[in-house]
Order: sequence, then C-alpha cells, then structure tokens
Amino acid sequence: MRRDLLCIDLDSSIKGVDNIDGFEALRPPYPVELKGEGPMEYRRVGKHGLKVSELSLGAWLTFGAQIDQDTARECMLAAYESGVNFFDNADAYASGQAEMVMGNIIQELSRSELVISSKAFWPVGPGPNDRGLSRKHLVESVNNSLRRLGTDYLDLFFCHRYDPETPVEEVVRALDDLVHQGKVLYWGTSQWRGGQIAHAVGLARQWGLYPPAVEQPQYHMFKRDVVETELVEAAHQHGMGMVTWSPLASGVLTGKYNDGIPDGSRLAQQTWLRERLTQERIAKVRQLTEVANELGASMAQLAIAWLLRLPEVSSVITGASRASQVHENLKAADLKAKLTPEVLGRIEAILGNDPNAQS
Ligand SMILES: NC(=O)c1ccc[n+]([C@@H]2O[C@H](COP(=O)([O-])OP(=O)(O)OC[C@H]3O[C@@H](n4cnc5c(N)ncnc54)[C@H](OP(=O)(O)O)[C@@H]3O)[C@@H](O)[C@H]2O)c1
Repeated sequence: MRRDLLCIDLDSSIKGVDNIDGFEALRPPYPVELKGEGPMEYRRVGKHGLKVSELSLGAWLTFGAQIDQDTARECMLAAYESGVNFFDNADAYASGQAEMVMGNIIQELSRSELVISSKAFWPVGPGPNDRGLSRKHLVESVNNSLRRLGTDYLDLFFCHRYDPETPVEEVVRALDDLVHQGKVLYWGTSQWRGGQIAHAVGLARQWGLYPPAVEQPQYHMFKRDVVETELVEAAHQHGMGMVTWSPLASGVLTGKYNDGIPDGSRLAQQTWLRERLTQERIAKVRQLTEVANELGASMAQLAIAWLLRLPEVSSVITGASRASQVHENLKAADLKAKLTPEVLGRIEAILGNDPNAQS
C-alpha cells in the first residue's frame, strides 16, 4: 500500500522552508500533499535534516498487548495514510511483541518513507545486563530490535532513561559506534534532565562523536515543568528536537473519565495509572472541553493541538487502541490555526499551571 505522492518542485520546496537553522516547521509546498485527511506538517528534528510528521503513533501498551495484530495494522495504516511517517517503539514494550507486530506491518510499507524508533533501558530479562545503558546492553538491544522490526536500521534510538550505573562516556561512545555501524541513524534520550543532556552533548563535542539529536519527554497539559523550564532551552542550546509522549495523559484529556472509568479503557486495565485521574483534573477537562467545542473540536484534539504550539516540539507521539481514535486525534493538526493568543490565554487560565509564571 502506498500513499499518492505528488511531484515535488525543488525550487518551490526550498522556498517553503521558513527558517533554515531554526525550529520553524517546513510548510507546503514542502511536504508534498498526501492523500488523506488533511495536510500533515513535517518538522525538522531540531537542527538536524530528518523530518518527522508533527503527529506520530506509538506502540506502548497497545501493540502486542491490548490490541491484536489486525487492529494494530488498522491503526498504523490509518496514521500512515494520513501522512504520519514516524512510528515509535521500544524493546521492552509488551516484552518485544510490540516490535514484532509493528515489524509485520512495516513489511507492507515503503521503508524509506518511515521513521522508526526504538529504545533501551528498562529490563528485558532477569539478568544484570538485560537492562540499563551499558555498551553490552545497548548493542544487544539494538540488534534484537532490528530483528523483531525486520529492518536494517533504526532511524531514531532512545536511551529510555538516564542510567546512573553507566558512565555517560560509555553511553555516548556506544551510541556513536552504533551510528557508525549504520544500525542507528540518530540517537536520543528519554526523560533526561537538561544537565544530563548537556553532559552528553559536551562529551560528544569534545571527542568529535555523534551527540544526541532528540529528547523524548512526557508532555501534556497536566505535565509541563521539565519541558517548559529546561528542555526548550536545551533544545535551542544543543540543536535538539523533542518528540513528546502521552499527549492525552493516558486518555484523561479526552474527557472519557469524567464520569467514571469505562470498561476496556486504559485506566480500567492499568490500575497504576489511575493516580493521573483527580477531581481537580476532571474539573479542568470539563472547562477545556467547552473551549474545544466552541472551536468545533473534541477535547482530545484540543489537548494534542496545544502541544504543537511549541516549535521545539518536532512531533507529538499519540497512542490509540482503535483506528477511530487515530482519525480523531490526527485532526488536531487542523486545529492549530485556531489556537490564537486569545484561545491560548483562556486555556492557560483554566490550567493555571504555567511553570514559568511569576508566583
Ligand atoms: N519514552 C517514554 O518513556 C514513553 C512513555 C510512554 C509513552 N511513550 C510513547 O508515547 C506514545 C503515546 O503515549 P500514550 O499511549 O500514553 O498516549 P496518550 O495519548 O496519552 O494515551 C493514549 C490512549 O488514550 C486513549 N485514547 C487515545 N485517543 C483517544 C480518543 N480520541 N478518545 C478516547 N480515548 C483515546 C487510548 O486508550 P484506551 O482506548 O485503551 O482507553 C489510547 O491508547 C506511546 O505509544 C509510546 O510510543 C513513551
């Protein structure tokens, strides 16, 4: 299955770039127009040449676990046909099954059109070296992910957390080697703090090694602090992009939990996530839903579009348990234009959690 690509006019595509060195998204006529549900913008990963769709799809808790292969395929193809090129995964998701499921679907698609990621850090076995960021585990994890995904290279590879038990020097050198081997094209961090990232970038610069190109933080309306107080600045300092996770706070930001926990929903299955559901948050979701409805959008679309207001965000990684959610969520791209300063001000007043606000 292939998307219909229109011809690219090289001259006009270059004119479509607003700011060569900055974080501005590429605008039409680049990217090419895609057959699907509306134009998807592609953003550079920081200062790097790689472009990712501003909305992407991840496999956590769904692929290989909550949903079967057919549903995963429907979700991934719905995203792909709407212009999503970036699909996120990790070695530990469903103990490797998430990569197997995604790998089967990738075989139907054109590999060069896709940006595929994986990660390592969390335990994938009982042994002391089946976790963390040691050179041994990073190399073995990448090799296993490549096998499960049925691909020769990962476009992005993330250190899934900071590992206090492995020197940053060892991590940076191991990732540099994996890039030189062609197994990883760009490497990044996930849930690292600004100072930890600066350390890794500093060592890479000192030794002429590939530095991290991208950070993957949790970022949504109820979780803003590290991104807005540290990582935006780090992105500018180091030319890194950000691909953010859990845009809907596991579904709380859809409003689906306003009146209880529906059967079959994520919070019904993952009881440990219920701490994200507080009465205060539900009250805010109710008020935000009014804003969304006035804009002719759903709560989920408002929550996702709001994240795209930051140019440092290269892509918002969405999650879905069915294709209808993918269709709904991807329409958030159309809502961006309606997020005027006045609307953003109303959202800020409801949230009341701007981490940079003077107290
Ligand atoms: N780097 C990391 O440490 C890390 C951590 C977590 C996630 N991630 C990445 O980020 C991706 C997205 O995270 P996430 O899955 O937590 O995102 P999310 O958007 O916060 O939650 C997605 C879940 O919300 C529900 N949902 C989504 N759209 C909906 C809609 N329109 N209406 C109603 N319910 C809807 C679905 O669950 P139900 O239908 O089951 O209720 C769906 O599986 C992951 O797949 C993964 O790739 C990375």
